[in-house]
This record gives sequence, structure tokens and C-alpha cells, in this order.
Amino acid sequence: MGLFVSFEGIEGCGKTTQIHLAADSLVKRGIPCLRTEEPGGTTLGRKLRETLLNRGPFILYPETELLLFTAARAQHVREVILPALEEGKVVLCDRFADATLVYQGYARGLDIEVISFLDSFVTNSLKPNMTLLFDLPVEVGLNRARERIARLNLASREDRFEEEDLAFHKKIREGYLLLAHQEKDRFRVIDAAGSINDLQNTVRFHIDKLVNRE
Ligand code: TYD
Repeated sequence: MGLFVSFEGIEGCGKTTQIHLAADSLVKRGIPCLRTEEPGGTTLGRKLRETLLNRGPFILYPETELLLFTAARAQHVREVILPALEEGKVVLCDRFADATLVYQGYARGLDIEVISFLDSFVTNSLKPNMTLLFDLPVEVGLNRARERIARLNLASREDRFEEEDLAFHKKIREGYLLLAHQEKDRFRVIDAAGSINDLQNTVRFHIDKLVNRE
């Protein structure tokens, strides 16, 4: 069995840059790995991603949103993540079930127990061996995310969540920190205010430690 590592954090925390660098580093060193993302990671997931992240001509209710994120995950786990783990790969995943607890639960206010039940159903209780949480003040992350979005054209903005107010994003940060506190063995909280290089050294340190422990 391989190793499963998820990357989490608020908007603009830099996790996507870091996951690419971490995957490149594993590949260069000949360690079999797979980088994937949620929502996305499968053909169906990419279709659902479009619906979930772009502003459409209809209201997406929180309950609908929850079911679409978890539907994408059900497919992703079976089609991509479990086969890669069975091949012994290190799977690096940009967001996973913690994102649903935090975004749809703590921030949107849906019942945490319902979400936990749904998530254990769709993941078959698969949990990451380690979760890297990139922590950053919300104002800093949102500024970075909004500058990036402003450079994109309207069709590819994926800004439905960035458009939420500061209070929403503060709940996201607090929710993640609470999860990290509740599951200290799984989470590594990384101060994401540092440079790309410093952050990458920290990410590599944690991943190497996990890989060498097995
Ligand atoms: P992501 O691709 O990580 O966007 P970014 O790189 O801009 O952080 O995540 C897409 C968005 O989807 C992000 O705003 C968080 C949200 N999301 C949920 O609300 N619930 C979920 O279960 C997942 C996986 C993501």
C-alpha cells in the first residue's frame, strides 16, 4: 500500500504551487507518485468542478453543493486514488474530505454529522496518512487569490468561493485549525507566510519523514 497525503488551506495559501513542486521532487528522486486534485482528478470530477467553482445561471444550494463535492470524491477515490495506493504510489491530493467538513460544514453551516457520514460512505473510510495544512491570515490569502483571478479571463475564473465575504473565509481558517487540533497525529500545520522555497523545504521534510518511516 502506498501513502496518501492531502494538502489543505484557505484560498491563496499556496498549496497548489507546493503540491506541484513536491510531486516534481518525488519524481526526480524516482519515488513513484501521483498528483491529483479535488474537485477534479477524473473526467466526471472535472465536469463537476466546472459547475461547482464557476458562477452559473442558477443558485447552487449548500445541500446540492455538498452532494456534488462528495459525488466527485466517490468517483475519484475508486477511479484514481485507491488504484494508485494499491500500486504503492505516494498520492498527493490537492484538497480532500477535510475541505468538505470545513467549507460545507463550518462555513456553510451544514450538519457536521451528516457530512462525516457522507464522507465515510464515499471514501469507504479512506483517510490521508498525513494532511499538510497551509495556514495563513485570511486577508493575505484572499488578496493573493483575487490578484490571481483578476489576471484570468471570465470563463476560467473559478471564483465562486473567493467571492464569499471575509467572515466566511475566517470560518474556513478556524475550521481547519480546529480539525488540526482534533487530529494532531495526522495534521502538520505549516506557516504559509514564508517564501516558496522555505515552504517547499518544510513540505519535503514532512513528506520525506513519512516516506522513510514506512
Ligand atoms: P481549489 O482547487 O483548491 O482552489 P484554490 O486553488 O483556489 O484554493 O479548491 C476549489 C474550491 O472548492 C475551494 O474554494 C474550496 C472548495 N471546496 C469545497 O468547498 N468543498 C470541497 O469538498 C472541496 C474539495 C473544495
